[in-house]
Amino acid sequence: MGRSPLDWLLLGPPGLAVAAALLLLVLCLRARRTRRPGEPPLIQGWLPYIGVALKLKKNPLGLLKTLQTRHGDTFTLRLAGKYITFILDPFQFQSVMKNHKQLNFHKFTNILLMKVFSINSLATNDGLNDKLHLCYPRLQGRFLDTLMENMIENLKQVFEPQLLKTINWVVAEMFTFSHSLIFELTFITLYGNFPADDRKKIITELRDDFLKFDDKFPYLVTDIPNELLGNVKSIRRRLIKHLTSESFLKTQGKSEIVKMRQDILEKDYALEDTEIGAHHLGFLWASVANTAPTMFWALYYLLQHPEVMAVLRDEIDHLLQSTGHQKGSGFSIHLTREQLDSLIYLESSILEVLRLCSFSSIIRFVQEDVTLHSATQDYCLRKGDFVTVFPPSLHLDPEVFEAPEEYRFDRFVEDGKIKTTFFKRGKKLRYYLLPFGFGTTMCPGRFLAVIEIKVLLIALLTYFDLEIIDKPHIELSFSRFLFGVQHPDCDVLFRYKVKSSS
Ligand code: HEM
Repeated sequence: MGRSPLDWLLLGPPGLAVAAALLLLVLCLRARRTRRPGEPPLIQGWLPYIGVALKLKKNPLGLLKTLQTRHGDTFTLRLAGKYITFILDPFQFQSVMKNHKQLNFHKFTNILLMKVFSINSLATNDGLNDKLHLCYPRLQGRFLDTLMENMIENLKQVFEPQLLKTINWVVAEMFTFSHSLIFELTFITLYGNFPADDRKKIITELRDDFLKFDDKFPYLVTDIPNELLGNVKSIRRRLIKHLTSESFLKTQGKSEIVKMRQDILEKDYALEDTEIGAHHLGFLWASVANTAPTMFWALYYLLQHPEVMAVLRDEIDHLLQSTGHQKGSGFSIHLTREQLDSLIYLESSILEVLRLCSFSSIIRFVQEDVTLHSATQDYCLRKGDFVTVFPPSLHLDPEVFEAPEEYRFDRFVEDGKIKTTFFKRGKKLRYYLLPFGFGTTMCPGRFLAVIEIKVLLIALLTYFDLEIIDKPHIELSFSRFLFGVQHPDCDVLFRYKVKSSS
């Protein structure tokens, strides 16, 4: 005779364990969903809720490659309670852009901004996103010229104390070094400078807090409660306090974009001070969090390849001499954007690093059921899911980039210009490098980011001798998979000193 569930429970702990296992199994089966006709292949994994998240975390590229071979260029994964459709065929990317009404960017980012920076106003103020978008032209055109001039001027302040001190070799950790330079230069260029007496102390405190906060970023984007993430809440509160209107007034020389954002948040929307600070933290994070690791990888690859460093030094020296910069006349760089643009090998080396290390994906929330059409196949996407265009599979595609795993600093140079034509299946690609996203939501700070890395590399290569000390085999850590430029899995020691001729 069969036993009732009650009988099992009455059998004591072993019975309870079996009952719990059965209950779990029922929950697993209920939580699994069935693929509807027209939907992409569905990979749910066996773990309830988690799906294939752990597998993806362990070996992201390996798993996606295996799934691509097995299921084709489009498939849906269950990841930590969400269903995300990956689109890997570059000729299908356009279909996501075309359906921007059904595939919403801000629905996704608003949740993220709330979770990570505790920005609450975007979910309730419909027009605020559009208003803030009106500020982005202040990162382009003549505003970009001014930002660049100020950045070069600020370089002096960031470098001069070091220049004076480093007549002998100084050993440093490369990631920490790159992050410090980017943080300080970005902060003072966008948010202005503090009075001289407090400057170093405040910037150091801010930078240390920012680093600790950024370390927690991969956890903040998950559903893990903030309370389980150490002191992240108090660090965020301190950072926000530093960026509230009250502290804001203390800095001199703010950029036009930051002033305009402040006006909108303060005057048009009369937001509370902490909410304004949270918005500034979000913007500061966007301007530093990807630029700093890009700077690290750009420097790392150069120091690993002294022959490349020599080519770039030559290119830079040539430009500096032809634009009247005198050797041995102290720290002075004055360049226009056109002159900076003429450094094509330097630019190509930065693009190459973005190709190898950026794992930003373009994520959209599916607001209503929609069919994506393409030349090869149509796919139905389900309301409530997410869809992501995943550029790394393109960046590492051997059909597009020969030996894609190799660092080739001049990969983006052709006939003395930046190369823009790449092919797949014999067809010219509209999109071949997408570290900054695409379409209307494309990163508004992309020009400033590249300028900043260029001027920092120019300063480092011109005024310093640089050598890598240990040559460990470092890898991408993948802790920010889907969310931008990856950090290295460990830091690297290098040494620097001022060149004797500077
Ligand atoms: C190497 C450095 C950088 C990388 C790789 C990068 C990458 C990205 C990506 C992938 C997006 C999302 C695009 C999308 O989903 O369509 C984005 C958005 C954004 N980025 Fe950047 N970024 C960098 C530097 C910067 C800088 C320097 C700034 C500011 C000065 C900035 C400001 C922003 C802002 C404000 C957004 C949100 C745009 C929106 O709301 O539509 N970024 N960035």
